[in-house]
Amino acid sequence: MRNEVRFLLGDEPVTIGAVNPTTTLLDWLREERRRTGTKEGCAEGDCGACTVAVGRPVEGRMRYDAVNACIRFLPTLDGCQVLTVEDLKARDGGLHACQEAMVECHGSQCGFCTPGIVMSLFTLHREGEAAARRADDALAGNLCRCTGYRPIAAAAARMFEIAPAAADHIASAEAQTVAVLEAMRDGETVELAGGGQRFLSPADLDEFAGLVARHPEACILSGGTDVGLWVTKQLRTLGTVIHIGRVEALRRIEDAGSHLRIGAAVTYTEAQAALGALYPDMGELVRRIGGQQVRNMGTIGGNIANGSPIGDTPPALIAAGATLVLRKGAERRTLPLEDFFLDYRRQDRQPGEFVEAVLLPKPAPGLIYRAYKVSKRFDQDISAVCAAFGIMVEDGVVMAARLAYGGMAGVPKRAVLAEAALIGQPWGEAAVRAAMDAVARDFAPLTDMRATAGYRARVAANLLYRCWLETGTEGVATRLVGGGALSGEVAHA
Ligand code: FAD
Ligand code: FES
Ligand code: FES
Repeated sequence: MRNEVRFLLGDEPVTIGAVNPTTTLLDWLREERRRTGTKEGCAEGDCGACTVAVGRPVEGRMRYDAVNACIRFLPTLDGCQVLTVEDLKARDGGLHACQEAMVECHGSQCGFCTPGIVMSLFTLHREGEAAARRADDALAGNLCRCTGYRPIAAAAARMFEIAPAAADHIASAEAQTVAVLEAMRDGETVELAGGGQRFLSPADLDEFAGLVARHPEACILSGGTDVGLWVTKQLRTLGTVIHIGRVEALRRIEDAGSHLRIGAAVTYTEAQAALGALYPDMGELVRRIGGQQVRNMGTIGGNIANGSPIGDTPPALIAAGATLVLRKGAERRTLPLEDFFLDYRRQDRQPGEFVEAVLLPKPAPGLIYRAYKVSKRFDQDISAVCAAFGIMVEDGVVMAARLAYGGMAGVPKRAVLAEAALIGQPWGEAAVRAAMDAVARDFAPLTDMRATAGYRARVAANLLYRCWLETGTEGVATRLVGGGALSGEVAHA
């Protein structure tokens, strides 16, 4: 057991003992360390003004992730390096290539968003020139109200042309940084207390399971992209917090032959490529969750366990036939993912039990798989409707169907009546239209700030028609549903 958290701020080793465990990295940076280059805009992971780079050694190299310091709790940084905008300038005053490019391209006016943008650009720059085409993705989590983004996009391209300052001290110190951080890894459980709260961060999976079983009342903290807002927005105190992020065994994706075993603490960013390789639409859907900072923090386990009716990965995983592995102490059980969601904010999870992994079957030959995220904005927006379809077609006949929706009920849910209308029928317009009618009987959606009930019902049926248009063997039907093009920003996954 260790009662202090240890990390690097720039190249300065930091050790912190007594601290309120839900102190955000942003507050500590600004109030304790006067690093006011990192700004606070929204305090909820939306604007990117607080973006910093958090690095950890991965296979002997430093991997830097852009994260939102406003919803990252300080003790979760154990064994990491934090870089803020103040760390980028070299000792001789030379600017980092991303800073140089922002100056050259006039990427800043009032400058409020600029430090966050520069830190997002820094992590993109670290990936090398091939990452230039991902600039939009890397910057989608950084809002700027002045520049109109064009000069920033120009800087994102320009920075790869600027020869790295000879004194790119971060790159030249990489081996030493890795050595220092790896020396910090002692496998000990970190326990901190402060502000009437307790923070436990084990490195070992069995230790984690034991702690959760002994403290069923504890809050499990994964990426903190929900839990962080409970503190910053709802001003809640959390009591005992058990952090999952240091349990390496839960941060793995394993190929088990017929399926992938995805550890609960795998982040969206870490999962995106593996999911997309099997189910391209699923990878594309994950790419549209939050901004890069949220995807670098939020986890598959958290997205499932929080049980939100509009979580994006549950419908996508349900349509692919995913199974959930739940664990309590040494006991494990599995269940189809759709059976985990019992009712609004109520899941089939015993006290002291946690989500250990998701088992994702590889697609069988003949499987039609599509996923659609319908939201007002393409990036950084919560779905109004999320739909995912796994339809097995053999010799033109539907043999099995898994039609899963988010945003249509209090839980992610299959459209079982629509599935029944398809099964045994030719995969053609008649069966699809019957299934579209059945979707209206499967759900009674709500009206809220994201969409009306009528819009949701229409879109839910239209997406099924779209899936057929995109995959049906009868070619593209001449008519679109509802007398016009599919409504709303229906972006393919
Ligand atoms: P945490 O916040 O750490 O935890 C969430 C909940 O799950 C808590 O109750 C926690 O106790 C519990 N929990 C976590 N891990 C486990 C486990 N292994 N076992 C049991 N319980 C566990 N979500 C979307 O689906 N689509 C979006 O487009 C989207 N956009 C977002 C944009 C922003 C700006 C933000 C801040 C969030 C967004 N989210 C979105 C919501 C959020 O990213 C997800 O719900 C997230 O996946 C939660 O995962 P986490 O790892 O951050 O969980
Ligand atoms: Fe807006 Fe952190 S302050 S994302
Ligand atoms: Fe003013 Fe971006 S320069 S917010």
